[in-house]
This record gives sequence, C-alpha cells and structure tokens, in this order.
Amino acid sequence: MSEVPAHLDADPAVRMPALAALRQQCPIAPPVADGRPWTAVSHEAVETVFREIYTFGGSAGSTGLDEDDTSIAGILEPRHAQIRRIINAVVAFHKSQQIEPFLIDLSHRLVAEYATASAAAGPKGVDVMPIAVDPVPPNAMARLVGFPAADAARYYSWADQVGAAFAAAAAEGRSISMAEAVPEFTQYVDDRIAARLAMPEVDWPQDALTRFLTTEIDGVRLSSRAIRVQILFMIGAGSETTRNLIGSALYRLALDPALYASVRTDRSLIDGVVEETLRIDAPAQFLVRRCLADTVLTGQELHEGEHVMISLSSANWDDTIFPAPETFDIERETLRQHVAFGSGPHICPGASLARLEARSLLNAFADRFDRVEPGAGYSFDHAAHGMLHGPHTLRLVVHEAGER
Ligand code: HEM
Repeated sequence: MSEVPAHLDADPAVRMPALAALRQQCPIAPPVADGRPWTAVSHEAVETVFREIYTFGGSAGSTGLDEDDTSIAGILEPRHAQIRRIINAVVAFHKSQQIEPFLIDLSHRLVAEYATASAAAGPKGVDVMPIAVDPVPPNAMARLVGFPAADAARYYSWADQVGAAFAAAAAEGRSISMAEAVPEFTQYVDDRIAARLAMPEVDWPQDALTRFLTTEIDGVRLSSRAIRVQILFMIGAGSETTRNLIGSALYRLALDPALYASVRTDRSLIDGVVEETLRIDAPAQFLVRRCLADTVLTGQELHEGEHVMISLSSANWDDTIFPAPETFDIERETLRQHVAFGSGPHICPGASLARLEARSLLNAFADRFDRVEPGAGYSFDHAAHGMLHGPHTLRLVVHEAGER
C-alpha cells in the first residue's frame, strides 16, 4: 500500500473520486492500517463530529501536549470557551470590518501591480498568486495582531512548515507542538511578546496582542507561552487558507467568462462566488479528532482513544446536500451549508475576515479587468499536500477595460 491513501492524495483529481467512492460505501470509512484514523466522509457524520465536542475532542495531533502548548483548536472545554472569547473579541465581525478600508486599498494596489506585470506578458499570462493574492492574508493578520507589516511576507514559509508538519503528524495520529513544528516562527512571536511586555502597559496599543496579554481567565492572565501558541495558530490558520480561497475563487471565475461578466456588472454576486468556492474548493481539506469516549457515529462503533479524520471536502461534495457537487453553482439552495469553516463550538472565528479579504480582492479585480482567463497551457497546479487545497501557482491572462 502506498504511504498516502488515495482519499488524502495531494492531487484533487485523485482525492475527490476516492472520497466519492468512500461516501458510496459508508458515512465513515475504516482506517487504512492499524493506528490510522477513521475518516468521516458524509455531511451528517462530519457535522456530528464537529458538534459533539464532549465525544470528539482535540485537533490535529494535539493529544497529550501541555495545555500551554495546545492551540485553541485542540483545547478541551471549559478552557476552550474561555480562550475562544478572547479570540472572538479580536477577530469579531466588527473588528474585521474596521480593516476593510485598508484591505480595499491594499487590493487595488496589488491588482495595479498585477496589471503592470501582465501588460508585457504574452498568452501564457503571469502567475497572480505571488503578486496579487499572497500578500493579502498576512498583511491582514499582521494588522489585526499588531505585528510589523514588514515581517508579514515571512508568515508563509512558516505556515507551510506548520501545515506540512501537522499533516504528517495527523496522518500518523501523532502529536506535535507548534514550537517543535516551527522553532523560528515561535522565536519571532516570543520576541514580539517580550517587546510588548518591555513597554509600560499604558502605552500598549489596542490590538490582539494587548487583548491576549490583559484578559484574565478566573482572575489570572494567560502565560506568554499560552499566548504564543494562540497567536502562532491564528496566523497559520488565517494565512494559507485565505490565500487558497482567493486563488481558487479567481480560478473558478477565469474558467467561466459568463460568470465573470455577471459579477462585473452585479457585485452582489461576489458573496455567492466566495461561498461556492469555499464549498467546492474547501481550503482546509481535513481535520482530526480523538474519541474521548466509546461512541456510535452514524451506526459505526468507535472506541475511546481512536482518531477520526473529518473530511471537510467530502462533506462539501455530499450529493444528498449538494446535488451535482462537482458543478460550480452560486445559486444552489444549500449554498451556505458547506463546512469549509467547520461547525459547532470550534467553527472558524476568522470566517468574516476571510470573506472580507476575498471580497476585497475580487472586487478590485472586477474594477480593473474586463476579462480574465487561464494562461495558455495552464492546468490546475495543486498544493503540495492533501491537507490544504488551492492553486500553488495560477497563471492568468487579464484584459483591461477598453482592450480587445
Ligand atoms: C478561508 C479561510 C479559512 C478557512 C477555510 C478556515 C477554516 C477553519 C476551520 C475548518 C476551522 C475549524 C477547526 C476545528 O474544528 O478544529 C477553523 C478554526 C479556526 N480558525 Fe479558521 N479558517 C480560515 C481563516 C481564518 C482566519 C482569517 C483566521 C484568523 C483570524 C482563522 C482563525 C481560526 C482559529 C483561531 C480557529 C480555531 C477556533 C477554535 O478552535 O475554537 N481562520 N478555521
């Protein structure tokens, strides 16, 4: 048997048919080998695992780590809800909305740079990801957290390391701490925390870092180590996923000239494009939970200590909820029933920020370009491993208003 089973393959052309075959067989697929996780593949099974937090706990290999080394996604109740309140406060809808003018301005500047780069390009086009897409999420995160914008470009290689280390650990049912996965990034965040603590508290700016440092849980502030892991996780969770969402949405629009034309004239359609991209191209493909007790999930007995992989992409392509799941349809009735942001108490707190970033860039694109199409010879260039999904590179050809 190959090391990576087909339903976890990095290539979506292999992964999605394998998941469809599993859904035909059962809502939860058995482990491919001893010690490997079960895989929840139906929408119902995935929703149930998300909701039943007292039966399915922890996340991507967080078992057995010290609480101060465990990211919010892996922390159990009641502490999860306590830390979650801080995170909700710093990325809440109204906080995200406050950076909308910044995002709109940034998007227009990046799209202008892309227009310049494209002007000299031939029919092969130019990769849009490094020029116009990649800078958006880390800059948004830096602004939100209160870190220097100049360092934001470094988040990706760190987030890549986190993704790869956690994918490897999760596939083996193993635990790994952030400090182990990304020592350099950990040191960077430690240094930012130390610099803030060295300032008089009255001078601390009103940002996420200050909120983490000053909020008390049961009368006690969080330790620097506990804050470090949550900030590392937030930056990791908000960067690669969101760039994948924006890249996938641009690709879907480039494949459908009529849809792009409609979006240009009616910008209210952008919300539907973003939701349907989240469904069909779930940026986070799977997560892992541990059974905290013996249980029965959609008819299958599971035992305490066993791991369950939650396939978000499979749930999002479950044809009992999403008829013709391989079709990109922004008018489907069940548009918002996707689980790309998870569900239940751990549902993504950054969802409104991610949607806002995507909306800002798609609007800037539509403002500037009449037509967008894939570059000659481009075929979907998928992410390096099966945990995240999005275009690694995306060569587009763009036509500015007035061009023929
Ligand atoms: C398209 C972009 C994004 C996608 C697809 C996404 C997806 C997800 C998913 C599926 C979860 C649930 C994890 C679980 O149940 O274990 C989650 C949780 C989380 N996300 Fe996002 N996310 C995105 C953007 C963001 C952004 C921009 C931020 C930061 C502001 C963020 C921060 C978090 C945090 C802190 C959690 C943990 C919540 C908890 O466990 O209570 N995410 N995200």
